[in-house]
Amino acid sequence: MQAPSDDAPRFETLFGRPPQVRVQAPGRVNLMGEHTDYNGGFVLPMAIPQQTEVLLAPREDRRVRAFSANLGARGNVDEYELGQEKRGRGWLDYIQGVTHVLRAQGLDVGGFDLWLHSHVPLGSGLSSSAALEVALLRGLREAFRLKLDDVSVALLGQKVECDFVGAPVGVMDQMASSLAGTGAALFLDTRSLQYERVPLPTGVEPIVINSGVTHSHAGGDYKVRRAECERAAAQLGVASLRDLPDAELPRALALPEPLGRRVRHVLTENARVLETVRALRSGDLAALGPLLYASHASQRDDYEVSVPEIDLLVDLARTEPGVLGARLTGGGFGGSVVMLARAGKGAEAAARIVARYSERSAHRATVLVPESQTKH
Ligand code: ADP
Ligand code: GAL
Repeated sequence: MQAPSDDAPRFETLFGRPPQVRVQAPGRVNLMGEHTDYNGGFVLPMAIPQQTEVLLAPREDRRVRAFSANLGARGNVDEYELGQEKRGRGWLDYIQGVTHVLRAQGLDVGGFDLWLHSHVPLGSGLSSSAALEVALLRGLREAFRLKLDDVSVALLGQKVECDFVGAPVGVMDQMASSLAGTGAALFLDTRSLQYERVPLPTGVEPIVINSGVTHSHAGGDYKVRRAECERAAAQLGVASLRDLPDAELPRALALPEPLGRRVRHVLTENARVLETVRALRSGDLAALGPLLYASHASQRDDYEVSVPEIDLLVDLARTEPGVLGARLTGGGFGGSVVMLARAGKGAEAAARIVARYSERSAHRATVLVPESQTKH
């Protein structure tokens, strides 16, 4: 895990007293299972080393004063009164959303001064928003002695996005940020919330590359995909696509375009999660590459959530002998790519891929995993 940068003196300069609580929560990368979580399906995320740090100090009154070190020159202290949360204040909605959903659960907190610093790039498909929610909930749990376990933290974080921010996401990102580590993937059934940790075989290491193309989930495309799945499920007479047996796929493919392809992605992607778990557990490295590339093709062609820059990164992965496979990770429409490489080959392969990308794209790609020695 990355070493925390020392933000405490900056907190003290800004708020005139030292922080009382310091916590972190990681971003995540999903190895397999995209757009399956809001369909009650399977996912396989793991934490990335980059984290969001929260420093906070409770106040005597009911004011929240919040500062984000990520907003650079634009950053200043934004404020609101507990109980007066109002949507539409940009990044502050994530903070207001947390205090709003806590109160709705009967978990009231007092005012606080808050310093945020994310080392997870924002809007890059690596869940800076979930890292923020989970880190803040952890900080408030500690500061106000809230009785919340890690699954409840994840569920509250998801509620913040769905009920306050207005991004109708599934539960994967918050579960990953709250429960996953960097050494093992979290194999999660999003319907039952049962999970198991699946370590990566010793011969394999992940690569995570941010394409530099940012996305926004509160924007329309994600909502459209989710609505298409709900429409398809309703027309097929099931409560959720998780309930649709594979044998029903021909019936789904007879639905009006593009619903059949959306269903095909969800059914085949769920199967790929199970297959990936099997391959990881049995050390079947040969199976992993085809699974990753098949998932990418399905996201690109059936689910239509990729963009040319992401496809380019996946194509470049194919030219690297040390890389087993690659796919879009996260919500899509930009964001990041995850690859699995032979252990020890990741850093060099990733550097070459980024260099070739820069010759062919106006965007700047960055390697998040493996972490470079130089701190950024
Ligand atoms: P992702 O979660 O994949 O990074 P989202 O679009 O879901 O992308 O969330 C990114 C948004 O979350 C940012 O635009 C910003 O509003 C908010 N956010 C996340 N981390 C921070 C932070 N450290 N400081 C301020 N805002 C943040
Ligand atoms: C996200 C969203 C998740 C999941 C993912 C696609 O970033 O927050 O809940 O749906 O897109 O797999």
